[in-house]
Amino acid sequence: MVESLTAVRVRHWRLTSQTMYRESLRKVATLRGTDTGQALPRRQGRDCNLAAMEIREVAVIGLGTMGAGIAEVFARAGIGVVAMDVDATALSRGIGTLDASLSRAVTRGRLTAAEQAQIRGRVRSATGFSEAAAVDLAVEVVPERMEIKREIFAELDRVCSPDAILATNTSSISVTAIAAASKHPGRVVGMHFFNPAPVMRLVEVVSTVLTTDGVVATVSDLARQIGKTPVHVFDRAGFIANALLLPYLNHALYLMASGYGSREDIDLAATAGIGLPMGPLALLDLIGLDTALSIMEVLHGEFGLPRYNPTPLLRRLSDAGLTGRKAGRGIYDYAEAGSDDHHKGNEHAPAAAPKHVTLIGAGDDVEAELASAMATAGINVTRNAAHPTDLVLIAAEAGRPVLPAALAAGRPEQSVGLKVIGKLAAGRLAEVVQTSLSSAEAIAAGTALATKLGLIPIHAPDRPGFLVGQLLYAHLADAVRMCQDGYSNPIEIDTAMKLGCGYPQGPFELIDAAGAETVLTGLEAMHEAYGYPEFAPPPLLAEHAAAAIPFSAGPRPGR
Ligand code: CAA
Repeated sequence: MVESLTAVRVRHWRLTSQTMYRESLRKVATLRGTDTGQALPRRQGRDCNLAAMEIREVAVIGLGTMGAGIAEVFARAGIGVVAMDVDATALSRGIGTLDASLSRAVTRGRLTAAEQAQIRGRVRSATGFSEAAAVDLAVEVVPERMEIKREIFAELDRVCSPDAILATNTSSISVTAIAAASKHPGRVVGMHFFNPAPVMRLVEVVSTVLTTDGVVATVSDLARQIGKTPVHVFDRAGFIANALLLPYLNHALYLMASGYGSREDIDLAATAGIGLPMGPLALLDLIGLDTALSIMEVLHGEFGLPRYNPTPLLRRLSDAGLTGRKAGRGIYDYAEAGSDDHHKGNEHAPAAAPKHVTLIGAGDDVEAELASAMATAGINVTRNAAHPTDLVLIAAEAGRPVLPAALAAGRPEQSVGLKVIGKLAAGRLAEVVQTSLSSAEAIAAGTALATKLGLIPIHAPDRPGFLVGQLLYAHLADAVRMCQDGYSNPIEIDTAMKLGCGYPQGPFELIDAAGAETVLTGLEAMHEAYGYPEFAPPPLLAEHAAAAIPFSAGPRPGR
């Protein structure tokens, strides 16, 4: 049988580590002595107190993008790093990533050249496991394959002191399964960083049923020491952040694949509409479509709901090797220098803004705001549908379809809806809602009108949630369900999404800002239209809506 590449790589590591074991132990001991002035007192045996442990040297195993970023984070915090990868080529590529990141920081004036040299001096390259013999913590950041991880933890068990902590950065393999395969399962935890590791401030510290007391505290303290915020979670597929983020990204890709929205409009809906730092499709490319697929498969395996079924296009792009930024092409194309093509924005055909508009609304503030903005922009507005105008504009509202109003106006071909996200002001996102009867001219006129009002137009079909609600409401429902399941709470979930994924507001802050009632109504309309279980409003959301209790109020007495 042909030996797999993995087996060869792992065997290579093992052989290298065997031959270098004694020599490197001596070197590491010397290095530790000169670095710190004194060797750390080592605790021995099974009853060691891992809580009191100080972490002075860390091994980072696997120097891909994440591993290099994690090594940088430790070195910047004054911690010695033994940087390891399968071979010299992979190692020097990883060190190159780290060097490029530090040089960028110097160029931007964030680091001095002297600081750069100091940080770099803390990173020692190693190709053999034996060089990790004296570390206090090893963090594994290798590809998401259980057999590779098992081999690595076996090597770490062999070379590391029994009281060293072993961590995995896995996002899609059970930490419990990795721990169970280790000789000392009590010291194995998840230490889950976020991409880009030097920037994102969250570390999920993942414990298992096997974790020894004190390990979580030590790793959480370390996370604080390196400038991150730890959130402790119990081992469960996706932990907090990925379990919420990935289904939302997967759903966004489904919306693109099904033609519900264009690539650019979907990303704009998230950035300009919800205020997220990246659109879901650009973020999928950053994370890697292969990584995203693995996480979705694990979520589906654990929870089994249709929400976690990977969108076929995710699998196809991944199969094709179009895995995103790292491959030069994924959902967007990064191949040509500077062709970061998602910055192009949406590409709606320019048209002349209409001069005469019929405005149909519910007689509320939304309609009044639109009327006043159009008047200010020099557009003649009438409320009488019988007047001949260039466009019939329906002031669209979540949970209220546009088509009945367009039919009632008697000119459905000339009608589109307009839904402004938030209060109408320049720079806001506007959904130009098209019914199945809207003509291309009406859609173009509605788009031009939104642009004339200083809004950022995107196109959405006349379906419940339009585009922003389609992306957001099911995502918020997932967060509520995670809380309802007792897995986490609103504060930790909000912290995880803000620090791990750069959300300006966490899911519960978003619900409180919109009102639980609004989110509930949106979900009810989507659930009624589609019947998908992911749109079913969680009872906890309905309770908060009925009692008008914000999630920020904390748990109710008796909960
Ligand atoms: N490596 C190092 N630093 C980086 C970086 C990278 N890849 N990308 C950006 N930065 C730094 C920049 O150097 C800059 O720092 P300075 O201000 O010191 O110069 C800073 O971050 C801001 O960068 P930019 O101005 O270029 O870009 P931005 O303001 O658009 O921010 C971003 C970029 C931080 C990536 C932001 O878009 C963001 O927060 N996006 C969300 C990312 C996210 O969701 N990550 C989690 C993914 S899920 C995951 O990782 C878990 C998993 O298991 C899959």
